[in-house]
Amino acid sequence: RKTHHFNWEIGYVFWSPDCQQNMMIGINGQFPGPTIRAKAGDIIVVEVKNTLPTEGVVIHWHGIRQYGTPWSDGTASISQCPINPEETYVYRYTVDKPGTYFYHGHFGMQRSAGLYGSLIVDVADGEKEPFNYDGELNLLLSDWYHENVFSQMTGLSSSPFRWIGEPQSILINGRGQYGCSLAGGIQNGGSRKCDVANMTGTQCRPVMFLVEPKKTYRIRIASTTSLASLNMAIGEHKMTVVEADGNYVKPFRVTDLDIYSGESYSVLIATRKKRSSNFWINVGVRGRKPATPPAMAILNYKPSLDYKLPKSRPPVTPQWNDFARSKSFTYKLRARRGTLKNHALTVNRRIELLNTQNKMNGNYLKWAINNVSLVLPPTPYLGALKYGLKGTFDADSPPETFPKSYNVMAPAQNPNTTQSSNIYVLEFNRTVDVILQNANALAENVSEVHPWHLHGHDFWVLGYGDGKFRKEKDIPRFNLKNPPLKNTVVVFPYGWTAIRFIADNPGVWAFHCHIEPHLHMGMGVVVSEGIDLLGDVPKEALACGKTGTELMNTTFTS
Ligand code: C2O
Ligand code: CU
Repeated sequence: RKTHHFNWEIGYVFWSPDCQQNMMIGINGQFPGPTIRAKAGDIIVVEVKNTLPTEGVVIHWHGIRQYGTPWSDGTASISQCPINPEETYVYRYTVDKPGTYFYHGHFGMQRSAGLYGSLIVDVADGEKEPFNYDGELNLLLSDWYHENVFSQMTGLSSSPFRWIGEPQSILINGRGQYGCSLAGGIQNGGSRKCDVANMTGTQCRPVMFLVEPKKTYRIRIASTTSLASLNMAIGEHKMTVVEADGNYVKPFRVTDLDIYSGESYSVLIATRKKRSSNFWINVGVRGRKPATPPAMAILNYKPSLDYKLPKSRPPVTPQWNDFARSKSFTYKLRARRGTLKNHALTVNRRIELLNTQNKMNGNYLKWAINNVSLVLPPTPYLGALKYGLKGTFDADSPPETFPKSYNVMAPAQNPNTTQSSNIYVLEFNRTVDVILQNANALAENVSEVHPWHLHGHDFWVLGYGDGKFRKEKDIPRFNLKNPPLKNTVVVFPYGWTAIRFIADNPGVWAFHCHIEPHLHMGMGVVVSEGIDLLGDVPKEALACGKTGTELMNTTFTS
């Protein structure tokens, strides 16, 4: 068991991720941030120094459950105070489970500003993955806007509302090409062909992955997009899906793979016999009418080390609105081995969460859950709950369900919502089912994709359906045999998704739509459990709000 120590400085950098220079958030002067790689059971220590001149920062380790270290979860206002400029915060946690993860900013919309990187956990020494491979490739997918996030946030909270629109570029490992097309004229209805010869040494030169013929490769894919749902395909190579969100799945073969923001997958590919050939890796937009050209990378066979573009056409990604196809992919996921433990077969509580788009105070546009749009309080919940500070957040309990008469297929009759910082207090170690119910948005015939992510836990995905969830009919159909364990799951337009988890991790945890502007507009809830089982919260996590003014000189003995 090893401890890996990192020193990071978070600051603005000028960068050209898609050949156009912009300001981004980098780590140690680099975008994307450095890859963390460790073995299961290892300890990660990251000393984060904030060198952003005028704003706070936090880092969330997406998919790492933080058992016993909820103050290292890195969610502003939930697990800690934002780290002030020039200050340092130490994240210390165990990576207990092998898998493909990533990390990202979790304050304001800093993830959209480029604050992210990969986190990969290998099996512990002496352990083996349940599949074999000869080599590994790592793809971190994201999307990129030229408008800076301050302007984006202002637009989202203005009246009249200003939507951020679709991203300018999709990035693979932080690289995309704006205004030109690698495959020349194929994407985006005939745009200018990129001058790849002149991209040598630039920050937007497409990634080339080197492979050997006749081998098996594991490709790790994670998506930290702000908005886009993606589909990935590799020319002339089928993929076998083996891992999702750090959990093994029953292998299945596909020609292309859907991935929503917050998800990660591993696939295996077998390389062909042809030496010195090369193929496109193509990543296109799903689920929203794409105004963003696909991203591309190159799979290049040895012995050729030449940086050249494939002659073949890039694989075609499916129609953006072919939801039947997306569902058939997502519904195929099964646990490699049934993982529902006995005590998870009895449900102690069921919470139904209706996802709606709303108006507030006249013309402000929000997303709400059971008619509550989330606002985060100035005092982090973790310290407030642990030390019993009253009046730091709304103390009422949020609704557990929504009116049975609500028509999810049409715009709401009364689109108004309230705002609140209230939380779901869960009983420790109890089994909780959550039904995520999608609905029509404000406009007629619109319902959007929402990938929901739960901090601090993995959950079983018990089932999906179209229309309104009906417990008499749908609960008996839950998959209790081999439901996949995940930390992020999609809710399809006009559909519902049912998940189950055990509230066994003392702390306060965000559960939210991973689309950055949706979260910013209130699309999330907060849950807490087992706070009395926690030891003292490190005081560095508490130096703001009421925990700052009321605790700093008194409660702490250390
Ligand atoms: Cu990756 Cu709360 O998110
Ligand atoms: Cu959403």
